[in-house]
Amino acid sequence: MVERTLSMIKPNVITAGNMGQVIARFEKEELRIAALKMMWLSKRDAEAFYAEHKGKPFFEELVTFMSSAPMCALVLEGEKAIERNREIMGNTNPQKAAPGTLRALYAKDMTQNAVHGSDSPVSAAREISFFFSEKEIC
Ligand code: RTP
Ligand code: MG
Repeated sequence: MVERTLSMIKPNVITAGNMGQVIARFEKEELRIAALKMMWLSKRDAEAFYAEHKGKPFFEELVTFMSSAPMCALVLEGEKAIERNREIMGNTNPQKAAPGTLRALYAKDMTQNAVHGSDSPVSAAREISFFFSEKEIC
C-alpha cells in the first residue's frame, strides 16, 4: 500500500552539511519526495510537535536541540513508506543502529540522532498536517 510519512532531517545534519546526502538516500530508496520545507523551529513549535513526550526526562534537551538551528521537514511517499523509512533511519540510539542506516551514518547521540520518521499512519497524518497544507503536498 502506498503511504505517506513525515520525515525530519534534524539540525545536526543540516549544520554538518549532510542534508543533501540524506535526501539523496530517500530518493535512492524510492521514497518519493512529495513535499519539502526547510525552517528554523521556535522552541514553542518543537514543544508542540513533540507534545506526546512532554514530562519525559529527555524532553527539554530534545526541544532545545530541535530549535537550535534549521531543520528540514519532508513528506515521503511510497510502498510501506512509514515502516521502510524507519528501517532506513535505524535504531533511535545510534550506538544500536545497524551499519548503513541514517542514524549510524549521521547521528551524534540519542538526542542529535539525525532524523525523525512517523511511527504509524495516525502519527503520520498528524505530523504531516503539523508542517504542510494539502496544497503544499505534490
Ligand atoms: P523519532 O520519533 O524521532 O522518529 O524517533 P523514535 O520514535 O525512535 O523515538 P521517540 O521515542 O519517539 O523519541 C523522540 C526523540 O526523542 C529523543 N530521545 N532522547 N535521551 C533519551 O533517552 C531520548 N529518548 C528519545 C530522540 O531524539 C528521539 O528521536
Ligand atoms: Mg517517535
